[in-house]
Amino acid sequence: MEQRFKNKVILITGAGNGIGRSIVNRYALEGGKVVVNDIKSELVDLVVNEIKAAGGTALGFVGDASSKTDVDAMFEATEKQFGYVDVVVNNAGLTSDQRHFLNSDEEWWDKYLRINLKSAYLCSFRAANIMVRRRKGVIVNVSSGGGTRAHRGFTAYDASKGGIEAFTRSLALDLGFYGVRVNCLVPGLINTYGLKGDDLAEREKVVPLRRYGTAEDMVGAATFLASDDAAYITGQCLVVDGGVLAQQRSANVDTFPLSNFPDMPHDLE
Ligand SMILES: NC(=O)c1ccc[n+]([C@@H]2O[C@H](COP(=O)([O-])OP(=O)(O)OC[C@H]3O[C@@H](n4cnc5c(N)ncnc54)[C@H](O)[C@@H]3O)[C@@H](O)[C@H]2O)c1
Repeated sequence: MEQRFKNKVILITGAGNGIGRSIVNRYALEGGKVVVNDIKSELVDLVVNEIKAAGGTALGFVGDASSKTDVDAMFEATEKQFGYVDVVVNNAGLTSDQRHFLNSDEEWWDKYLRINLKSAYLCSFRAANIMVRRRKGVIVNVSSGGGTRAHRGFTAYDASKGGIEAFTRSLALDLGFYGVRVNCLVPGLINTYGLKGDDLAEREKVVPLRRYGTAEDMVGAATFLASDDAAYITGQCLVVDGGVLAQQRSANVDTFPLSNFPDMPHDLE
């Protein structure tokens, strides 16, 4: 295993499950000292214990990434334990329940904007103040295909993720002067708890790579963006979605259907 994060301090929100859990485990395996945040204490304990069992260094912090009080306390605990932070991944987020816009209300709107967008502001503000003093640091935000193309019944979620992508670009301009990079990871259809109840078998048929993604599929891009391999990349969104955003129409409705595809020669199977 490479050690790209040796002695780097890396904080991830919503790291108790799904994408965040896979990412934080890899940062720790590559030598990072990680801060594992989640709103659910049992998940924080689970992930901290698995990292320590694998020989890594982890600090758990139970808290709401969209609460200023909790975020302030989390960064104070991080500085107390490790002195600074090198990388912050704003991963905490909720997939919204689907509602037609005409059935929406203020509470629904505020909930998804707060958890998916305000959390990134609060954590980035604290992180930036540490990173700017050190003239280095990386912030990775987590968006969704909904930041570029709409989902039906997802006005609040899509607005929050479009906001994350605009925030990424704008923050990259404000912090680039101080040597701090800001980028965005854009997952596609990823089989996590966040997709509970979805009919994955039906939905994966529209993915050009012909399968849904796993949390592990996010690890390569998330570690790349956080590492020095991406030293000259800032203000960008890296899409990891099996080709979904690249396609104009899904396989189900395309005038050149999958049945027109040539059979695969046996020697390539
Ligand atoms: N799974 C997908 O298909 C998919 C697609 C696009 C984008 N995303 C984004 O990826 C990120 C991670 O999603 P996931 O699928 O791994 O979700 P998940 O539900 O599996 O995990 C999210 C974790 O965040 C925690 N969390 C929720 N609210 C929190 C808060 N306020 N403070 C701290 N922790 C909180 C949850 O307890 C959970 O452990 C989210 O931002 C999500 O919008 C996921």
